[in-house]
Amino acid sequence: MEFIELVKKRYSVRAYKNDPVEDEKLDKILEAARFAPTAVNYQPFQIWVIKTDGKKEELKGIYQAEWFSEAPLVLCVCSIPENAWSRRDGKNYADVDAAIVMDHIILAATSLGLGTCWVGAFDVEEARKVLSLPEGVEPLVFTPLGYAADDLRPKSRKELSELVKYHD
Ligand SMILES: Cc1cc2nc3c(=O)[nH]c(=O)nc-3n(C[C@H](O)[C@H](O)[C@H](O)COP(=O)(O)O)c2cc1C
Repeated sequence: MEFIELVKKRYSVRAYKNDPVEDEKLDKILEAARFAPTAVNYQPFQIWVIKTDGKKEELKGIYQAEWFSEAPLVLCVCSIPENAWSRRDGKNYADVDAAIVMDHIILAATSLGLGTCWVGAFDVEEARKVLSLPEGVEPLVFTPLGYAADDLRPKSRKELSELVKYHD
């Protein structure tokens, strides 16, 4: 599949089947995450793989939507700012690195026929509690991982002319 097709095929899946995610597919997705680039190759992130079976109530505390815990797996990417590169003006790149990791996860999942949805509007304290995250490990974004039970919707995006500026 051409990369642009893959990108356009991905969408925010907000309904999931209960079908299991094959271990080989999960392994491939995690390998794609491992190979994500990070600033100075510091790799300041952790990926948490959560089996939703028996944990639906706890997961609802993190993010209320029913579909969040419908899939068999939920993944969380955490950043570790103290392990990350900082620019000379002090800007820490941990969240940038972790976001790239999640994007690798999401695009790898799409290429394997699996659905995902970026979830940033979660309850941070609940996430820290449920995952027993140590100090310094910051939950950045979650996604369910499973087979979609909904369909790709038409995408609305700004025109390139609005988004791209050329500096000659
Ligand atoms: C950083 C980030 C956080 C997001 N958080 C949420 C969220 O908390 N809940 C949700 O339903 N969708 C969330 N989304 C999904 C966006 O709403 C969605 O990607 C956007 O509307 C474009 O739709 P598409 O993903 O179907 O192309 C998030 C997306 C990103 C990139």
